[in-house]
Amino acid sequence: MIYLDNSATTRPFDSVIETMARCMRETYFNASAAYRPAVEVERAIRACRQAIAAQVGAQEEEVYFTSGGTESDNLAILGVASLLRQPANFVCSAIEHPAVLETIRRVESMGHEVRVMPINRFGVVDLEACASLIDEHTALVSCMQVSNETGAIQPVEQIARLARAKNKNVRVHVDGVQGFMRVPMQMERMGVDLYSLSGHKIHGPKGIGALVVKKGVRLAPQMTGGGQEKNLRSGTYDSPAILGLHQAVLEMGQRRAEIDRLRAMKARLWSQLAKAEGVRLNGLPVDDPCSAPHVLSVSFEGVRGEVMRNALEGAGILVSTGSACASHKQKVSATLRAMGLSTEQADGTIRISLGMMNTMEEMDEAAAQMIALHKQLQAFRRR
Ligand SMILES: Cc1ncc(COP(=O)(O)O)c(C=O)c1O
Repeated sequence: MIYLDNSATTRPFDSVIETMARCMRETYFNASAAYRPAVEVERAIRACRQAIAAQVGAQEEEVYFTSGGTESDNLAILGVASLLRQPANFVCSAIEHPAVLETIRRVESMGHEVRVMPINRFGVVDLEACASLIDEHTALVSCMQVSNETGAIQPVEQIARLARAKNKNVRVHVDGVQGFMRVPMQMERMGVDLYSLSGHKIHGPKGIGALVVKKGVRLAPQMTGGGQEKNLRSGTYDSPAILGLHQAVLEMGQRRAEIDRLRAMKARLWSQLAKAEGVRLNGLPVDDPCSAPHVLSVSFEGVRGEVMRNALEGAGILVSTGSACASHKQKVSATLRAMGLSTEQADGTIRISLGMMNTMEEMDEAAAQMIALHKQLQAFRRR
């Protein structure tokens, strides 16, 4: 099997699985308990906080563990909205993941206004339009770091700068689920107040993530209870998952040089697909510095994405038609439509996403299969 759906989730590193199994077997203590073995678990949790903080230019006290990207996005947005005493406006891009978009819709139903930043034909937020949407009543601007559908790296630093020039009290949230550890993030320098990340996109466990909250940014908790995370988030620490996440961060860090290998694999795959007729790359050129190293959106003329995906599955290659969370809804991608693709082009799109376990040989094999299947399916369609 060739697994090319790493933006949906990644296979955990063996070292992650071993770390988690060891934790469940040997150090299963509640990290909040007072005895020594529990204190050691607490120490290990702290080491994970430090590792995450070091990756994003933050302090360890600024890292709050959550159940993943979705919860982090909810906590950032609702955490800001719940503290507002007067109607305000919330700005987000047109291509946010449902974890942001649906949450922003909830904020709208709380009486606040939602303003949507358009994107250009490459799937990148239009900065001029962004500037015109932000004003002194903007409470939060939320923009993803990397598009889960096209891999376009968003200009979050410029957005943060524009936002603060218009309103010094604005909060800037970045959904970094597809960017964390594959695209650099320095919160302090880039002016980011809130950063969401998730374990299972970096070969770590599912169901664990973090929201990094810069000091001085106030949020209302959305889950109350024992107050484990300095009262911002409650619940017994999922220590196996946190230790697994730590291991994933460590191994991704050790293999940082391989991010260039991801980029080279993506370029190789596209260079082969580009030779075939009727195959279109959506978004930025693969060698553009704003194209993330691991995501590729490709349309096959005359063949529906679903049909292509199923045929590829038959050949042992797993890809998705859009983002995994939206694909079961069978809707045409709003991102691709916003980039100006026709319904037919958007409908004929598959997303290919790479991870640290893919190889160059797999790129050659996948490209050959895609080209052959495209030809076969097109011929079938004409009959
Ligand atoms: C950009 C983005 N944000 C948020 C999420 C949700 O993250 P999680 O699966 O950890 O809840 C995803 C998952 O695909 C994503 O791609």
